Amino acid sequence: MTDFVEGPPYFDAARAGGYAWQDGTPWLLCRDGEARPALADPHLMKSWAEKQRRFIRWTRDAAMFNTAEVAQNYALYDSWFRADPRRQLKGRVLDIGGGWGLFREWWNADEDGCFVVHDPGVERFAVPPPETLRLQFAVGLARPAWFVEGFGEDLPYRNSSYDTVAVISALDHCALPSRVLVEAARVLRPGGRLFIVQGIDAEEGEKVPGRRFAARLLRVVSSPQRLHRVLRQRLFHRGDPHLHHFTLGKLLELVTDAGFVEANASVISPQFGVAVVEARNR
Ligand SMILES: C[S@@+](CC[C@H](N)C(=O)[O-])C[C@H]1O[C@@H](n2cnc3c(N)ncnc32)[C@H](O)[C@@H]1O
Repeated sequence: MTDFVEGPPYFDAARAGGYAWQDGTPWLLCRDGEARPALADPHLMKSWAEKQRRFIRWTRDAAMFNTAEVAQNYALYDSWFRADPRRQLKGRVLDIGGGWGLFREWWNADEDGCFVVHDPGVERFAVPPPETLRLQFAVGLARPAWFVEGFGEDLPYRNSSYDTVAVISALDHCALPSRVLVEAARVLRPGGRLFIVQGIDAEEGEKVPGRRFAARLLRVVSSPQRLHRVLRQRLFHRGDPHLHHFTLGKLLELVTDAGFVEANASVISPQFGVAVVEARNR
């Protein structure tokens, strides 16, 4: 691995001033207080900050990451990645809204590769995740990564520098998803790969079997851990932490509007409404 002393790979200080190493760590780069706001609209920033506060509080509740559900989600992604070697995250990877960078688990870390997590909540995610995640994602978490604080809407990286951009369960948290995707296209090399995982809503009139009331109820009572989680969610984490909700059609539209080609979508969990969208940069 290259030893970057002046910033993470492809960092372009001219693009976003006001970054500084946090406590001298060589892998955590934070915006300082004077950094220019990524999103000029104060109303939008206010709604984003409110949702983000709610979400960060949720991440601090270890009970929300119970063993059964963590293992279930892991198995879902693992079987998707393993079904085809071309699906592996390869080379220079930028994980926008990457949180703890858990998806390093499926990164093929070759010699010239790097994994950069870019997230506005990076200070929070520099603290190790709860034990259930640590155990389940032990392989990935042991792999090197740079953590950079910032918005996906305003990436401080050079044009055409990454092989892969991943946006995993994060686009619905971003203030301006379309701008995030335009930025993703800018920093990806021509032909580079965009990989999105996103919880999706049903299209109008579409019936999703796993979301019917009876199916949901059955799921909740199927395990004490799940029941406990749902009750905690109701009691302590009321309110939606997402700024946006997408149908699969809307998601594909955003991807193609940002200039990506060969967009391809698969619903990897019809029960929970989780989709993967892959596309190529022009
Ligand atoms: C549900 S978490 C997903 C974390 C990680 N991708 C994973 O799957 O484990 C959503 C993430 O989006 C991040 N986020 C919120 N607003 C963002 C923005 N404008 N740009 C980039 N990331 C954002 C949050 O800080 C959070 O880490």
